[in-house]
Amino acid sequence: MDTNLYLVGFMGTGKSTVGRQVARQMGFEFLDSDHEIERQQGQPVSQIFAEQGEAKFRALERKFIEHGHPAKKCIVSCGGGLVVPPGMLELLRSRGVVICMHAPIETILKRTMHATHRPLLQVEDPEQRLRELYAQREELYRRTGTMVLTDKRPLREIATHVLRVYRQEAASFGK
Ligand code: S3P
Repeated sequence: MDTNLYLVGFMGTGKSTVGRQVARQMGFEFLDSDHEIERQQGQPVSQIFAEQGEAKFRALERKFIEHGHPAKKCIVSCGGGLVVPPGMLELLRSRGVVICMHAPIETILKRTMHATHRPLLQVEDPEQRLRELYAQREELYRRTGTMVLTDKRPLREIATHVLRVYRQEAASFGK
């Protein structure tokens, strides 16, 4: 099985932690869309947002998914907003299996509130902002694919769950 796996979901749901673990178990390459874009641009995401704007960042995310990464044997942790613009979910699905990481808003608040690298949270009231974005996007994330809860479960158990879903879905990918 060499179909790519795309992990989507809100900020702070554990996409990268889980993705790294699953990649290790599967012998796949692990890529984080934010880090790849930062590397290509030579700028942190916050600076891209500040200097080039969010729309440009979204275009870079699309470019990365279209032709910025290997077509096989990789696990991509997708930035939380990557799947939001119209057409992005279909694009991801055309390239591999899509699995959504999920956690309750209270957990996300704890995991993200004090981090400083997320430009969308550099506002006066990040909690309010997170709650708004979560409410806006929740429905969309639910439509992306199988949801895997990353709250209050050991990493190994989450990785095993993701692997099981991946194997089922990769078996029928492209059929
Ligand atoms: C964003 C999520 C971030 C990053 C950028 C925008 C979003 O990625 O791409 O700050 O719109 O939800 P993580 O989900 O890895 O934090």
